[in-house]
Amino acid sequence: MPPQFVIDDRTHVLVLTGAGVSAESGIPTFRGSNGLWENHPVEEVASPEGFHKNPMLVWKFYSERRLKAESCEPNPGHYAFVELEKKLGDRFLLATQNVDALHLKAGSQRVVEMHGNLYKTRCSVCDRPAFDDHTLYVNGDMPGCGRCDEKGNFALLRPHIVWFGEMLDPADLERIQAFMLRGAKERLVFVAAGTSGNVYPAAGLVDTVKRLKGESWLVNAEANANVSSYDHVVIGKSGEILPGLFGAA
Ligand code: OAD
Repeated sequence: MPPQFVIDDRTHVLVLTGAGVSAESGIPTFRGSNGLWENHPVEEVASPEGFHKNPMLVWKFYSERRLKAESCEPNPGHYAFVELEKKLGDRFLLATQNVDALHLKAGSQRVVEMHGNLYKTRCSVCDRPAFDDHTLYVNGDMPGCGRCDEKGNFALLRPHIVWFGEMLDPADLERIQAFMLRGAKERLVFVAAGTSGNVYPAAGLVDTVKRLKGESWLVNAEANANVSSYDHVVIGKSGEILPGLFGAA
């Protein structure tokens, strides 16, 4: 019998996904052999300092990511969450660390993109809202902010990604927190999938769930950095495990 947890009408499910969930769609993960961080030092392409030093390198990196992700399709792991959301409605929330937008492409609706979105761009200086952008900035012309330009200032546009050393959007964290508190009044189940458990605050969600007396599951290709915090651990590929994990009462 494959591992399964039973959903009843009091069950609230908070999902946390990481790069491993998109691996079967062909998108490289960050850590480990052939991971993105092996050939692209984090501080060069994923920090405000790196952007300040060499914006062209940073835009080239994220333009390549845009190009790659655009050619990839969601896999059965993504679709398993779409099906789960159809059953649970407002008792479902998907927090993802992935910026590839594949959960949205699959059809998930209640999604918090904790680390941003590859297809959004914002100004590195002014507070104009992030806007949709599929442009590949590779030919050396760095994009400037039109709004700053109108005021006679020059400011570079930047990817709408949370870089190392930056804060997550407090509204996103509040939405996740509120969901956990509401779910804990009935039955809160936390499912983390395809994540190395190295990056906070995402990696700390399991501890909050534990404090709220929720139940936690990890679905991952290997035992990750915070594996011991989970009540249930299923080692395997998310695209193979997730479609069978959620049973109905
Ligand atoms: P990582 O690359 O750190 O970890 C991916 C995890 O997925 C590893 O534990 C793999 O074993 C596992 N994995 C690989 N293939 C899998 C599969 N098919 N099924 C299940 N598990 C699989 O990625 P994240 O944990 O997402 O942040 O990394 C967290 C953050 O660190 C990212 O959002 C990114 C990165 O720096 C930013 O860029 C802001």
